[in-house]
Parts: sequence; C-alpha cells; structure tokens
Amino acid sequence: MLKDMDKLVSLCKRRGFLFQSSEIYGGLNGFWDYGPLGVELKRNVKEAWWRDMVTGHDDLATLPGAPESFDMTGLDSTIIMHPQIWKCSGHYDLFHDFMVDCRESKKRYRHDQVRGRWVEAKGKKIFVASQVGGDEGLAETEQKALKFYNLRAKNAPELAWDGPLVSLTTVQDFSQVLGPDAKELGTLTEPREFNLMFKTYVGALSGEEGAAFLRPETAQGIFVNFKNVLDSSRVKIPFGIAQIGKSFRNEITPRNFTFRSREFEQMEIEFFCHPASSPAWYQFWRNRRYKWYHDMGLAGERLQLREHHTEELSHYSCGTADIEYAFPFLPPGEYGELEGIAHRGDFDLRSHMEGKLDPHSKPDLKVELDADGKPKHRGSGKDLSYFDDITRERYIPHVIEPSAGADRATLAFLCEAYQEDSVPDENGKPRERVFLKLHPRLAPIKAAVFPLVNKDGMPEVAERIYRDLKKSFVSFYDAKGAVGRRYARQDEVGTPYCITVDGQTLTDQTVTIRERDTLRQWRVKADDCAAEIRGLLEKDL
Ligand code: GAP
Repeated sequence: MLKDMDKLVSLCKRRGFLFQSSEIYGGLNGFWDYGPLGVELKRNVKEAWWRDMVTGHDDLATLPGAPESFDMTGLDSTIIMHPQIWKCSGHYDLFHDFMVDCRESKKRYRHDQVRGRWVEAKGKKIFVASQVGGDEGLAETEQKALKFYNLRAKNAPELAWDGPLVSLTTVQDFSQVLGPDAKELGTLTEPREFNLMFKTYVGALSGEEGAAFLRPETAQGIFVNFKNVLDSSRVKIPFGIAQIGKSFRNEITPRNFTFRSREFEQMEIEFFCHPASSPAWYQFWRNRRYKWYHDMGLAGERLQLREHHTEELSHYSCGTADIEYAFPFLPPGEYGELEGIAHRGDFDLRSHMEGKLDPHSKPDLKVELDADGKPKHRGSGKDLSYFDDITRERYIPHVIEPSAGADRATLAFLCEAYQEDSVPDENGKPRERVFLKLHPRLAPIKAAVFPLVNKDGMPEVAERIYRDLKKSFVSFYDAKGAVGRRYARQDEVGTPYCITVDGQTLTDQTVTIRERDTLRQWRVKADDCAAEIRGLLEKDL
C-alpha cells in the first residue's frame, strides 16, 4: 500500500501520467494535464464506466437488487448553458464556500478546512491554526506554538493544550487565532462567501447581458434535456441518462494532486423513477456503484460507503451516501469522496419547470419569491412531468443521482495500484521493483513485445506479434536495453503482459509470456500469442 504520496507524484511525472498544467510558465494552481500514459488510463476509467453503466447495460434483465429492468441512455450537453439554469438550480445563489484571508501572509484558506488547537502558556491562550490534520497537524501546531511563545523544544511540557484539533468554524473570536502561515495573532479576516462558478461572457456583449458560467456540474445539462430524451427515444420510466464531461469550480484551495482541481471531469447519471419506488432505487444505485469501484480493484478496507446523517443532507435530499477512499495524503482514519449517490426527489425537474425552490420550505418545497411576491428566479414554464400510458398516471419523476469524478477515481486507482516488491534479476539476485497493479481494463498499455536481441530474425517475429496485438489493444514495442530493464519499465506503468521473442523462438516458434503480478512465465506458439493475450484480457474486459 502506498504511504508516501511523493513516490506516486514523481512516478506520474517521470512516466508521463500527469503534469502540472502550463508547467513551463510556472504552472497554474488547480489545473493538471494528463500525459501520454495518463490520457490512456483516464480514458479507460471513463470507458469502463460508460460501458458498464450505459452501452453494456442489460435492459432486458432485472439486475440483482433492482426493483425492475430499466433503460440507460447517454448525453453530451454543452459546458456553457443558459445562465437561468444556474439560477433555478440554486448554484447562482448557493454554490459558495466561505473563505478567510490572512492579512500577514496574503494567503487565502477555505474556512472549514483550517483546523487548530487551543493552547495556553505564559498566561495567554491562543488558537494555533494549521492546514493539515492528524499527527502532522499536531506536530505542526506544537512547532508553531513553541515559536510563538518563544520556547525551546525541551520546554514543550509548558504548553497546556486544551482539546484536540478542531475546525476553525468552531472559533468565534479571530483575534486569538494564529493563522496557518502567520507569526502574529489575529491576522485572519472574518469568513466571506465566495461563489465557485467561473464567469465568462458570451458573444460581443461584455456586460451582464452576456454573462454566463462554465458548468460546475454536468447534471443540469441532463435535467434540462429530460424532455428531449424522453420525446426522441423510446425510453420509459424508470430510466437513466448518463453524461461524462468537464466541470469547473473555482476552488479556494485546490490541493492533494488532482483530488481537488479547478477543472475536472465528472461521470454523472440522473436516474428517473416513480416516487413510490425511489427509495428502493436509491438503495440499488448506492450498492451498485460501491461494487463497481470494488470490482475495478479498490480494496475493501480502504473503500467505504458512508450514509449521510439527516442533518448533513441537502435541503432537497431524502438520502445521500458517499463512496469514499482512504487516500494516502489524508490522515489515518480519514476518507476522501469519490462519488456521491443522492436521492434528489423532484427538486431539479420542478426547479426547471416552476423556478428556484426555497430551500427553507421543507418538506413541501415552494418556489422562492422576491420582495414583490414573484418567483425570484423564473423556471422554463415547460411541463417536465411524465405520463404513464399504462397506469394513466401523470407525475413528476423522482431522481437518484450517482455522481462520480473521473479524476478522483483515476487517482484512487493509481494510489491503490502502486506496489513495491523484490524480484530476482537475470542473475537471480533480488532487485527492488515498483509496479502498478492496475486492473487490466484500466492499464494504459495491455501488452509489450520485446525481441531479446535486435537481430537473428527476432525483430521480425516480434513486429508481427506487435502489429497483430495493436489491432485490438494499446500495445508497446521495445527493442532497447537489457530485457530486465524492459520488464521493469513496463511493470512501473502497469502493463499486465510482456511477450519476449528469444533464441528458442527460432527453433520451436514459441515465445514467452510474462504476467506482471505473479511473474509467471510460460511459452506459447508465436502464431497463437495474440489470441492468447486477447483471451487473457477478454476475461477481464
Ligand atoms: N451533481 C452533483 C455533484 O456535482 P459533487 O459531490 O459536488 O456533486 C460529484 O461532485 C463528484 O465530482 C465528487 O464526488 C468528486 O468525485 C468530483 N469532484 C467534485 N469537485 C471536484 C474537484 N474540485 N476536483 C476533482 N473532482 C471533483
């Protein structure tokens, strides 16, 4: 299991998985580029999701745990949409975080992400803040407190700590706070709202009339196309619409590699169903999505399904669960969100019909009114209800939303896959090895082909196998360096199979196949090799 995140970050840069965006200009915080291998890995994550959820979905069968059979369709909506969409969805008024600024260090922090501890020494009690949690946070706050009180390390027992690390949101009086990067007390400003949507201007109009937003989620594109999909395809409720695409959030503190970025990709499903069966569908999607990550290789103990407490639920939600992963950059015992599965009721379809709903009007959400008693943000006025021609019932469908992040899933798969072990080299001596134990469906390269030496007819056989494999899979040809080095290079990027053409090939026309995880080697006829690899991979695909 990966403990030191720096090892993975360095492998990702060295082998072309991930680069900082605009690196030659010093980089841009919160933006990441996927290199030659990274793009293959992320495409595989998205393709596995699309195939398992959409194109490969068996609409004739009732899946285990599902109340009945259902249809799935896809969609690709635009990133910039009518600005009214964000007003009705609530993002315009409510999609913000609270930030605090430090007058001394000029740094900006997300209010709820700053933690700290109360401590007293020399007759003065202060709150020492830090951006990290766990043992690292405890060590950092101690160092900062010693410095503040002008004490040596041996005087640490003079520090009287009052309680564990707690969030800055629990602190009322900021004059007693020592900011995460400050030397003086009371340099943090009061928390201020900060809308996370990126604003842009459409066409030649640069004023508010032309203002629009880069979407902060792909979901709204699905809701506003609900009627189009219904009218243009023969789907009937229950059915789901899936979409993969870029989303943008002007995060206050992007961090932890790609985990919190400002530009990222989401893989979202809006599943429309009858209100009466929606709790059962919620359970089905929660369990199905959890199983998907498990089947794709995330180990049980680092993956968890966490049901939200009632007080954590969004104003529209009757149930929400997060699928979380214990990323190595988090303190022990903490998990980061991979995907949220939310029961959203009829909130979204009604908002786009009637106008923005008042979040405080629970349980029967009502349209939020302005001072003149008119809708604060008017809906489309279009009828988004559904008519069931068998039961003759008309209703507004309820929605279950499994909403995943392609970048977070890719990062979790990379963290989980990173392994170190020791293998014998050509001379039988132990050699340290780094390998990515990626699920074969996710591996950027499926097979690599090596001629042992670049002569004696070996390259010809190897090239033929390589060309054959390339018709079906991303494959790699490598004729350079010692064969042990070539294996090591493929292990490091997670290639499940390597094929070597050697001296024996010329006498009996067989080649060696080597398996990444077990190091098992076996010989097959060169002419059967591509079919053998295809067979091995297809059992996983
Ligand atoms: N439509 C619901 C929605 O967008 P969300 O929990 O805000 O819900 C869904 O986002 C998923 O998108 C998250 O579980 C995460 O995987 C991904 N995500 C959200 N913000 C992200 C960010 N700043 N960087 C990378 N991924 C992010």
